Amino acid sequence: MEDNLPVNVREYQELAKKALPKMHYDYINGGAEDEYTLRENIAAYGRILLRPRVLIDVSKIDMSTTLLGYNMSSPIIVAPTGAHKLANPEGEVATARAAAACKTVMVLSFSSSCKIEEVASSCDAIRFYQLYVYKRRDVSATLVRRAESLGFKAIVLTVDTPVLGRREADIRNKMVAPRMPNLEGLMSFDDDLDSEGGSKLERFAHETLDPSLSWKDVEWLKSITSLPILLKGIVTAEDARKAVEVGAAGVIVSNHGARQLDYAPPTISVLEEVVKAVAGAVPVLVDGGVRRGTDVFKALALGATAVMVGRPVFYGLAARGEAGARHVIEMLNRELELAMALCGCRSVAEVTRRHVLTEGDRIR
Ligand code: FNR
Repeated sequence: MEDNLPVNVREYQELAKKALPKMHYDYINGGAEDEYTLRENIAAYGRILLRPRVLIDVSKIDMSTTLLGYNMSSPIIVAPTGAHKLANPEGEVATARAAAACKTVMVLSFSSSCKIEEVASSCDAIRFYQLYVYKRRDVSATLVRRAESLGFKAIVLTVDTPVLGRREADIRNKMVAPRMPNLEGLMSFDDDLDSEGGSKLERFAHETLDPSLSWKDVEWLKSITSLPILLKGIVTAEDARKAVEVGAAGVIVSNHGARQLDYAPPTISVLEEVVKAVAGAVPVLVDGGVRRGTDVFKALALGATAVMVGRPVFYGLAARGEAGARHVIEMLNRELELAMALCGCRSVAEVTRRHVLTEGDRIR
C-alpha cells in the first residue's frame, strides 16, 4: 500500500487538480454559467440531517442491492462521463475494471475515449451504455446495436442534452474536442472545428446533437433495441410520469452534474417528488453532488434505488488510475456502511424516509 492515500473524495479532487492540466481539470470539474446548480448539488445534501436509531445490533451490514435484476455489492454505481483518457491513458478500460472489482455497474459514456469493444472485453463489470441522440440517427443506432451485441445490459438515454449547456471554463480554455474512437468510420470530423476559438467541444456538440430530441425518440429507441431503457436527466414529477408511460425501465434524477441548465434544482431536492410520481413502477436513481456515504444514505432514504457518481470516479482515475477509481468507490462504500451502522440500518431496505430530516420537514 502506498503511504498517505487520500481518505476522502475531497482529497482525491485535490490530487486530480495537481495531476491534470488546467484545461482538463476545468472540463471535469466545471458546471454551466454561474455554477449555481454545481454548488447547490453538493450544498443541498448538507441541508439534510440524519435521524439515527440506536440500540440495534449492527454487527452485520448488508449493502447489496439489485438494479434491473442485476446484483450489486452496493447501491453506488459509476455515472457516464466522457473522455476518461483525459485523466489516465487507460481511460474507460481502467474505470470498468475498477467497477468490476467493486462488483458494481459501469455506465459507459457515448463520448468514451476507449472503444466499446475494448471496454467490453476488459472485464466482467455489468455495463450499461449511455446514448446521445445525434442528428445522424444512423450513428446513434449503430452504437446502440454495437453495445447490445457486446453484452451491455441497458441503454441510458440522456434526455437533458438536446443542446449543450454553456460551460464557460471550457469556452475560456478553448477546450479541445476529445477523440471519440467509437465514431471513427461512422462520421467525418470537421478539422476546422477550432477556427473560431471558444470551446471546440461546444462546437462539436452543436454540429452533432439533435435539438429536435423528443418523447417520440424514446419510441424510436424502443424500436431498435430490446434492452431496457433508462431516462437520465429528469427532475420533475411531470416528466417522471411520462417516462413511466412511455415504458422507461428506470428514471435517473440528474441535472448532468450541473453542466447543462444552470439554476436547475439540486437533484437531491427533487428526488422525492420524482419517487412519488413514479410510485414504485420503475427504479429511480439519482446523481449529482454525491461525495460522501452519508449522501448515498440520504438518497436511499428519499427513495432512490441507487446513486451514480461522476466526478469522484474521474478524480480517482486522474490521481491514481484504476486503483484510484476503485479506491474512490470503496471509500464511498465504507462510508455508506458506517452511516448505515450508525443509523441502525442493517440493509438497504431498512433505510427509510424516517431516517432523514429535510428542510421541508423542519418547516412543517
Ligand atoms: C458528465 N456527464 C455525462 N452525462 C452523460 O449522460 N454523458 C456524458 O458523456 C457525460 N459526460 C460527463 C463528463 C464529465 C467530465 C462530467 C463531470 C459529467 C454527467 C454525469 O453522467 C453525471 O450526471 C454527473 O457527473 C453527476 O454529478 P457528479 O457526481 O459529477 O457531481
